[in-house]
Amino acid sequence: MQNQNKKNISILILLIVSTWTFNSNANQFDNDQPTILITGSNRNIGLEFVKQFSQKDWNVIATCRNPKDADELNAFARNNENVVIEQLDITNNEHINNLSLKYEDQAIDILLNNAGLTPRYLSAFRKLSAVDEDIARESFEINALGTMKVIQAFMKNVQESNNGKIIALSSKASSFGERLKVPMMYSYAMSKAALNSMIYSLSFESKRKDVIVISLSPGMVNTTPGTSIMGAIEVEESVSKMMVVIDGLTMEDNGLFLDYEDGRTIDW
Ligand SMILES: NC(=O)c1ccc[n+]([C@@H]2O[C@H](COP(=O)([O-])OP(=O)(O)OC[C@H]3O[C@@H](n4cnc5c(N)ncnc54)[C@H](OP(=O)(O)O)[C@@H]3O)[C@@H](O)[C@H]2O)c1
Repeated sequence: MQNQNKKNISILILLIVSTWTFNSNANQFDNDQPTILITGSNRNIGLEFVKQFSQKDWNVIATCRNPKDADELNAFARNNENVVIEQLDITNNEHINNLSLKYEDQAIDILLNNAGLTPRYLSAFRKLSAVDEDIARESFEINALGTMKVIQAFMKNVQESNNGKIIALSSKASSFGERLKVPMMYSYAMSKAALNSMIYSLSFESKRKDVIVISLSPGMVNTTPGTSIMGAIEVEESVSKMMVVIDGLTMEDNGLFLDYEDGRTIDW
C-alpha cells in the first residue's frame, strides 16, 4: 500500500513537472495586441519569426512537434511573456483537434504555416531514379496535407480577426516559371506545388471571408547546420524582409505567390 502511494506520488510529480517544462498558458496574452500562430517554430525560420513577432509585441502561439526538446524556443519564451509554446505535429489529427479546441475563442490575425520537410542540399540534386517513395509520401503528408489540415482547423479563428492573413511558406523550387531548369528536389518541389495549388484554390473562398491567403518564398536561406550555401541569406534577413511583405498585404495580393525580398509576384 505504501509502495503504491509512493508510485502515485511519483506519477503526479512527473505529470506536474512535464507540464511545467514549457510555457503553455495563453491567459498571459494581452488582448489588445494581435495574435499569430506559427508552425514548426522551434528552429531556423520558424524560431526567428517567433522572436521578431514577439519583439513587435504580438501574442505568439509558437507550435512545434516536441516542445520539451525545443531548448532555444523555451529559453526565449521564459523571458518573453507574449510567447506560449504548444505541441503540434501538423500530420497528427489529435494534436490539431486539441489545439483547435484549446484556442476556439481566440482570434488569430496571422496563421503562419512554416513547418515543412525540406531536403538537405547534398541530396537535393538527385535524379528521378533516386527518389525515395517514403520521403516523397512524407513530403506530401507534411508540406501539403499537414498545412491544409492546420488551415482547415484554424480558418474560423482567422475569420474572427479584422485583418486575417494565412501565409504558407513555399519555395521557388516548385515554381514552373522560376525554378532552376535542372532535375532536382522531386519530392519537395511536387509537395510544395501541391501546397501552392491548395492556397490558390483557397483564395477564392477566403476572399469572401475577408481573409488574405498567400504562398511566400523565404528565399534561399542558410538553415543547414555547419553549411553555408553560396548566395544564400541568413535567417534574420529572410524573416525581417518577409515581415515587411506580410505587414503590407492587401486583398489585391490574395491568391498570389510572393517573394520575401520585395513582395514581387512569383510565377506559379
Ligand atoms: N531554408 C530555405 O532555403 C527555404 C527555401 C524555401 C522554402 N523554405 C521553407 O520555409 C520553411 C522553413 O524552412 P527552414 O529552412 O527553417 O526549415 P527547417 O530548418 O528544416 O525547419 C523545419 C521546421 O518544420 C518543422 N516540422 C517538420 N515536420 C513537421 C511536422 N510534421 N509538424 C510540425 N512541424 C514540423 C521542424 O520541426 P522539427 O525540429 O521537429 O523537425 C522544424 O521546426 C519550410 O516550409 C521550408 O520548406 C525554406
